[in-house]
Parts: sequence; C-alpha cells; structure tokens
Amino acid sequence: MAKHFIDLDDHSFKELQGIIDNAIALKKSHQSGEINESLKNKTLAMIFDKPSTRTRVSFEAGMTQLGGHSLFLSDKDIQIGRGEPITDSAIVIGSMVDAVMLRVSSHEDILTFSKHANTPVINALSDQSHPCQMLADLMTYQEHRGSIKGKKVVWIGDGNNVCQTYMQAAEIFSFELIISTPKGYEAAQDFVDKYQNNISYSLNPVEACKGADLVVTDVWASMGMESEQKARELAFKDFQVNLQMMSVADEGALFMHCLPAHRGEEVSAEVIDGKQSVIWDEAENRLHAQKALLLYLINS
Ligand code: CP
Ligand code: NVA
Repeated sequence: MAKHFIDLDDHSFKELQGIIDNAIALKKSHQSGEINESLKNKTLAMIFDKPSTRTRVSFEAGMTQLGGHSLFLSDKDIQIGRGEPITDSAIVIGSMVDAVMLRVSSHEDILTFSKHANTPVINALSDQSHPCQMLADLMTYQEHRGSIKGKKVVWIGDGNNVCQTYMQAAEIFSFELIISTPKGYEAAQDFVDKYQNNISYSLNPVEACKGADLVVTDVWASMGMESEQKARELAFKDFQVNLQMMSVADEGALFMHCLPAHRGEEVSAEVIDGKQSVIWDEAENRLHAQKALLLYLINS
C-alpha cells in the first residue's frame, strides 16, 4: 500500500517532525550547493483545478533539484476536466508515475483518487485542509524560535482549510491554538467537534492576540468564494491583523500568512511587511518541506 499525505493527522508527531528536520537539513545542503539526485528518474504528476504560485513552483523546482521530473496537469488539459471518472484517472496516472499531487476543490476527490492510485498521493490544498502549507509553517517557526510545543498560536479570520489544518497541528504538535473568526465563518463543525485538545475560541481578535507567540491569518475569501468577497469584507472588517493586534502579542511574536495576501484586508501592510513577519521564509520553505515530503513518500 502506498503511503499518502492527505491529512496531517494520518501521520504521527515523530513522522512529521522527521520530515521537518530533514527539510531543514535539505535547505542547508541545497544552499551550500550540494547535488542531491535521490529522486533521479522519478516522476511527480501535479493535477490542478485551481490556480497556484507557491505550490506549483515549489513542487516543480523540488523535483528538479532532486534529479526527478514533474508534470503539470491542469484540469483543462487532461480528461478529468471532460468527465473521465476520477477512479479511472487514478488507476492510469498512478500506474505511470511515482507520486501524484492534487490541488482539487473536493477533499473527497483526493481521498477517492488515493484509494485507486497505486502510488503516493499528496493533498496540495483542498476545501478541507492544506497539510503541505502546515509543514512549511512549522518548519519556519522551528527555524526562528525553536520548538512550537506549548506556544500560543492565534488564528485570526476565516475558519477555512488552512485554519482547519492548524487545528489538526495543535493536537499533534501540542501548541495552544486560539481561533478568532467572525460569527458564521467558523471552521466546519466536524473539525470543531473532532479537534478540541489545546483549542479555544474568541470573538474578540485583539483579546485573542494577547501574549501570542505566533499570529496567523489568511484571505477573507478563499479560491472559489470570490462571489462572497463584498459580504466577507463587511463581516471581517474588525479581523484585520494590524499593529494594534501585534502590539498586545508577545514581544517576540511572529506573523505568518500562507499567501497570496491582500494588504489592507486581512492584514495591514505594516504588519505583513514589518519586522515580525516571516512570510518570505514561510513561502520559500514550501520548497524544502515538500522535498523532504517527497523523499519520505517515494523513497521510504
Ligand atoms: N500558499 C499557497 O498554497 O500558495 P499558492 O496558492 O500560490 O500555491
Ligand atoms: N485559503 C486559501 C489558501 C490559499 C493558499 C484558499 O483556499 O484559497
């Protein structure tokens, strides 16, 4: 049975920490110019039905750096987009490549694909979760501040796919997570019911940020929700991460955002471009974290 990476909590703390530690090592060896061809002759298929900058570039560059190859397959170019069943596509594509990465709207489709593909399947963002982003965020925190265990992490804004992945991570990595979302924009009820350890909720985002070690946010309208933009701007207007929020956080607090960001909406320019922001390391670490992930899935 192939090993997949679809939800963070399919993996133990030890396995995930191992991927992060290896990512930090791979980053150093790449920066020192070492050649690593551990995935020579291996192919990664990358299926997208949504846009992407970081995910596409990091997986593609990562495969190149490891001596392998990647295939960019937009749903407009492959038969899935014309109605070929996901199960048939999984059997065929899985029989030809060494791993498949999917960014498709439906989490269920990724699970279905994984059940029929005889090769590792990676969730590269679904309507439910974004586990690859979480690897990069945890790696970034570790690089800057050491272990995240026991730290106070505050999520401000939409209870979306990235927020839900933080809920899974809080339990596995033993950090405290305070989620501050406007009424009506909470994480899905099954996540709220399932993930309760270390998680609390606040309707007051400034109060939530008090003493925070890490403040995280994301766009108010995720991909596919563009028609709700105006309504969301109203609902989220008090949930912009700004200097007032960061001023009540711990002095050493970091700010993260998975990007793409909208300055002046979910975060002020002063915060995202300020000293506490580690967004560029966070984005770059997608590359290193996913190289470690590919090695873990394909080579182990
Ligand atoms: N953070 C992230 O997944 O970015 P992209 O949508 O650009 O891939
Ligand atoms: N929540 C965002 C994340 C983008 C990387 C979205 O789903 O569009």
